[in-house]
Amino acid sequence: MLLFGIETSCDETSVAVVREGCDVQSCIIGSSRKDFEHRGGVIPEDAARRQLEMILPIVEQALKEAHVTPTDLEGIAVTTGPGLLGSLLVGTTTARVLASTWNIPLIPVHHTLGHLSSTWLQESAKRKVESPTTAAAYAETSGKYEEAKFPILTLSVSGGHTDLWYRTSHTVGILAGSTRDDAAGEAFDKGAVLLGLPYPGGPALAALAEQGDEKKFDFPLPLKSEEGTDFSFSGLKTSLKYLLRDLGDKLHEPGTRASVAASYQHAISAHLIDRLTHAVKRFPETKEVHLVGGVSANLRLRAMAEDLMKSHSLSVRWPTSLRFCTDNGAMIAAAGEFLVREKPEWLKREFVTSATMSLKF
Ligand code: KG4
Ligand code: ZN
Repeated sequence: MLLFGIETSCDETSVAVVREGCDVQSCIIGSSRKDFEHRGGVIPEDAARRQLEMILPIVEQALKEAHVTPTDLEGIAVTTGPGLLGSLLVGTTTARVLASTWNIPLIPVHHTLGHLSSTWLQESAKRKVESPTTAAAYAETSGKYEEAKFPILTLSVSGGHTDLWYRTSHTVGILAGSTRDDAAGEAFDKGAVLLGLPYPGGPALAALAEQGDEKKFDFPLPLKSEEGTDFSFSGLKTSLKYLLRDLGDKLHEPGTRASVAASYQHAISAHLIDRLTHAVKRFPETKEVHLVGGVSANLRLRAMAEDLMKSHSLSVRWPTSLRFCTDNGAMIAAAGEFLVREKPEWLKREFVTSATMSLKF
């Protein structure tokens, strides 16, 4: 199918045209991030107001860049939750109006299912792949849908959630583990605030960490004595707070701040990898491991995941482009495709916009 995807669950306003759940004909991502850089986080009402201004122009831009007209489209997939309610309403209201005007079906999509579907996305043959990926051969298939190898274990790590999903198809699976407190992205963002870095903290902290020594400072490994596949990040944040208090002015000595960032980034990644190790043991039938969500853009995490999977002879995959790691409309179109393919009755589903919905397979 050729689907239109709309994503507005947080501060991004993104729309995309995607063929067969993988071939990205266009993907426009508008962000009001600059407005929030020095405010420590997103202000929901401001984000929704900016999205309202942005959405119609980028709908037109996406159609133009994909060289399609509304009559070519076979459906509109839209994030219905979870997320900021005002932001979600901008996306879902736009989707309802467009679906009615263009006379095509509306496909409601859970935000997390969007992230879980993002590893199949590839820039259309005309576009350049931006980030390195272990799935280079996959990127070269340019537009052909590669059969997924299930069961797949997916570590979904973003600013809003940290989950481990075990799936036997795109839309069938179980939630094998979840965070008990902060999300991994939140741990990056809150750590960045403590280090005086701008929002969103993940990319800023990762950039600073590049100049530091990750072995310089010790952080505890969360849930060390537990065999399970749950996560906890709030202890790491507290450890960082105490470390900065103890360092005092020494933080400003050359290289110290960067080494604190590197050690903290390593501690977050080590915890994620430790839980992934338990998960791989718990699900020995796993054929592939995927990393998705904003934090999957982190190069240190990717390298550690690759090392772990080599020792288990498993392949690991993450989105082929950095822009598919963070929130984007293309992953929502991909999820819409898989939902309709595997659950045709989905098209008749009641359409509900919710800030707090949970993903149930
Ligand atoms: O998936 P996403 O765009 O939005 C949510 O659904 O939350 O993820 C955003 C999160 C933020 O917390 C951001 O700091 C984090 O992803 N992030 C990163 C990196 N790039 C984005 N964290 C670590 N390293 C990065 N390179
Ligand atoms: Zn997200």
